[in-house]
Amino acid sequence: MVRTYMLNTLYQEMRGRLKDEGIDTPDLDARVLLKSVLGITDADLITGADKEVSESESQTIESFVQRRLAGEPVSRILGRREFWGLDFKITPAVLDPRPDTEVIIEVALKRFKDDPPQNILDLGTGSGCILIALLHEFPKARGVGVDISPEALNVAQENAQAHGVFDRIQFIESSWAEGIDDSFDLIVSNPPYITNQSIANLDAEVRKFDPILALEGGKTGLQAYEYIFKGLNALLNEGGTALFEIGFDQQNDVVRLAEESGLSVIAVYRDSAGNPRVVEISSGDK
Ligand SMILES: C[S@@+](CC[C@H](N)C(=O)[O-])C[C@H]1O[C@@H](n2cnc3c(N)ncnc32)[C@H](O)[C@@H]1O
Repeated sequence: MVRTYMLNTLYQEMRGRLKDEGIDTPDLDARVLLKSVLGITDADLITGADKEVSESESQTIESFVQRRLAGEPVSRILGRREFWGLDFKITPAVLDPRPDTEVIIEVALKRFKDDPPQNILDLGTGSGCILIALLHEFPKARGVGVDISPEALNVAQENAQAHGVFDRIQFIESSWAEGIDDSFDLIVSNPPYITNQSIANLDAEVRKFDPILALEGGKTGLQAYEYIFKGLNALLNEGGTALFEIGFDQQNDVVRLAEESGLSVIAVYRDSAGNPRVVEISSGDK
C-alpha cells in the first residue's frame, strides 16, 4: 500500500533509503527525482516542505526509488539528460551523454571562433547531443547525423525538433560514412571504443543501461577509428577539422592509426579529470 506524505517527510525518507543502500549521491538523486515528478524547484523543496504529495505522485516516486535502488541511473529513470546545458531525451537505444564529451564542443568553439563551419558531420550521433549542441552554437551551420541504429535516429530527430534545429539536420541510417558522398568543414564522432573483453568489467550502470552498440569497439577497442580514418580525408573539406572522442588510454593508438591513414594530428585535448579525451585531426595534403 502506498501512503501519502508531506513533501519533507518523503524527501528525508527517500534520502535515507538511497543512502542505506549505498547509492553514491542519495541527496541529489532524491531531489532530482522529486523535482521531476512534482514539477517543483529546489526552492520549493524548502518552502513547500509541508505540502502534501498526492497518492498517484507518491506511487510514481516509489516506483522510481525502487528502480534507483535496483541500480538504474536517474537519467535512465527520467529518460532525460542534460548536455551542454540543453535537455535531451534518452531511451534504451542511445548512449547516456557524458560530460566528458562536451570537450568536443569546447574545442570546436575555439577552433571555429572566427570562421564558423558551414556544415558538420556527426558519425554515430546517438541522442544527437553533439550535433545538436554544435548547431545550437553555430546557428548558420547545417548538419548530417549518421547512426546505424534507426531507433537512435528517431531519438535524435525528436531532440533536434525540441531544440529547433531539425530543419538544419539530415539524419542518415548508415554504417559510418558509407552512405555519405558530401564533404564537411567539421566532422565529429564519439564512436564505441570499449574492448570486447572490458565490457564485462564496466560499472553495472553502464553495462546494463547503455546499448552495447554504443560501447563495443571490437577486440582492440579501435575498430571504429580504423574504419573511419581510412575514408576521412575524402570527407573533410580543405582546411577542415575532425574531432574524435577517445578512451583514456587510447591516445597513442589513435594518433598512430590517424597518421597511418595519412591524416595530420593537430592536438589531443584532456577532460576535466586530466585524461586525454579528444583528438583533433586535419586532412592531409589535398
Ligand atoms: C558512444 S555512442 C555516441 C553517441 C553520441 N554521439 C554521444 O556522444 O552521446 C556511439 C554511437 O555510434 C553508433 N554506431 C555504432 N556502430 C556504428 C556504425 N557502424 N555506423 C554508425 N553508427 C554506429 C551507436 O549506435 C551509437 O549511437
